[in-house]
Amino acid sequence: MRLRRRKHIDSRMSAVSAALAENPEALRGEWARQTQPAARRVNVELGCGMGLYISQAAAAAPDELFVGVERNQNVIIRALERAAGLPNVLFVCRDAAALGRWFAPGEAHGLLLFFPDPWPRPGDEKRRLTSPAFADTYASILPEGGSLELRTDSLALCRYSARVLETRGFTLPEGARRDGGIYTEYEQKYRRQGREIYILTAVRHTKGAGL
Ligand SMILES: C[S@@+](CC[C@H](N)C(=O)[O-])C[C@H]1O[C@@H](n2cnc3c(N)ncnc32)[C@H](O)[C@@H]1O
Repeated sequence: MRLRRRKHIDSRMSAVSAALAENPEALRGEWARQTQPAARRVNVELGCGMGLYISQAAAAAPDELFVGVERNQNVIIRALERAAGLPNVLFVCRDAAALGRWFAPGEAHGLLLFFPDPWPRPGDEKRRLTSPAFADTYASILPEGGSLELRTDSLALCRYSARVLETRGFTLPEGARRDGGIYTEYEQKYRRQGREIYILTAVRHTKGAGL
């Protein structure tokens, strides 16, 4: 049974493999040039889940490149299928911890973290996508003025992320929150449930600050 499911996912993956960056290290510093030379921005969504946001955002901005990172193959397959036919979306099926090996300094103009797992226990801090180690990586691949947007239903994660980012080279401009009307699966669900959603925008200031 498990073997049949494995074969099924493998054949679905091979049908959409053109959009899968199997060797992201080889694209370091070259994402736009090698895949979408006319792209004026590179956006990276971490933990992109089933790709509802990235496919719609890419369709709405054909002059930008979108890279979705998702470590769960059973989940990313939906994102790959959803984005089929969109020339400006690529996916990496790996752990985001290696992000700094895939993007050169300043190469990613925008980072998107939508509803990352909050990992509330103190012992799990390093798993949070806004831990100090992740924040340092983000600061290294964003240019000055590059931005990170976090959306979450966890006030604790939002506050924690603000504290970390402010000490790792980011400023948190007031009034920068925006809602483009494009949502992830989680955001759609939470909005339907009437849950509070917190949006944090962080802008990278001076190169290497806080590192
Ligand atoms: C709570 S879900 C949210 C999915 C999507 N962003 C949304 O809002 O619908 C978090 C996703 O992030 C992925 N994820 C968590 N940590 C990750 C990591 N370190 N690297 C890559 N993906 C990760 C999980 O596999 C999961 O699909």
